[in-house]
Amino acid sequence: MNLAELISVTFGLSRNKAGIMIKFVVTKDFKDMSEKAAMLFLKQINMKDNSLLGLATGSSPLGVYKNLIDWNKAGLPDFSAVKTVSLDEYVGLEAADPASYRYFMNDNLFNHINIKKGNTHVPNAASKDIAKETSEYEKRIEMMGGIDIQLLGIGRNGHIGFNEPCDFFERATHLVKLTEDTRQANERFFGTIEDVPKEAITMGIGTIMRARKIVLVSYGENKADAIYQSFFNNTSPMVPASILQYHADVTVVADKAAMSRVLAENVSFNDQI
Ligand code: F6R
Repeated sequence: MNLAELISVTFGLSRNKAGIMIKFVVTKDFKDMSEKAAMLFLKQINMKDNSLLGLATGSSPLGVYKNLIDWNKAGLPDFSAVKTVSLDEYVGLEAADPASYRYFMNDNLFNHINIKKGNTHVPNAASKDIAKETSEYEKRIEMMGGIDIQLLGIGRNGHIGFNEPCDFFERATHLVKLTEDTRQANERFFGTIEDVPKEAITMGIGTIMRARKIVLVSYGENKADAIYQSFFNNTSPMVPASILQYHADVTVVADKAAMSRVLAENVSFNDQI
């Protein structure tokens, strides 16, 4: 496939093994990906002002948050009734620690929009009682009516949240041991690998699958295998994101580098448009 053909593929559908359509929005680059994914959140909040948003950290959602901040400053979306739940948090880090995901969410989104901080939820992984925290987090999501739209990134090993490759799919929010690959990928936020926590609290695969709508964002060639394995191969807990093939409303917004393996393999992509 030459470049012109590649750029012309901006939207695709693929029927997964469960017979469900997965929507792919193939974007030029990170900026384009961020705008298109942010539009889906704008639409959701405009449609339901007290939506419960599931949010992710890491590099992939940064541009989505930047757009939402800019648009919020310009008037819409209005976050005053919005509630959020974050996917995960490192064990042992206090909210004030700049490497914590609570700090990340405040710094990259909440501090810049008209959301009520009390409506934003991140697992408290500094808690002395992690088991209690995980079960209460799950209950809190249910009590708020469930997640309306969940934003996801994807790990190079196919993880979503911090659900690492494993021999079964976890149902609920739980404590997880991070793989070395994940710790290395996140070293950039800490300075040295020794400083990267070894454990985290994460929503389970079940928690994510109960979200009504899922938007997965991905950019860069180092995600090309993960995208291919997750959406165009067998479903397996060894590739946690592959479970999304069984979700009824998934949109993958990925740049052409992240989609490069799918496009190169010429799999049954775009044949359902
Ligand atoms: C973050 C998270 C992770 C990341 C994934 C990709 O809350 O849950 O699953 O989405 O590790 O990270 P980036 O976007 O930094 O490549």
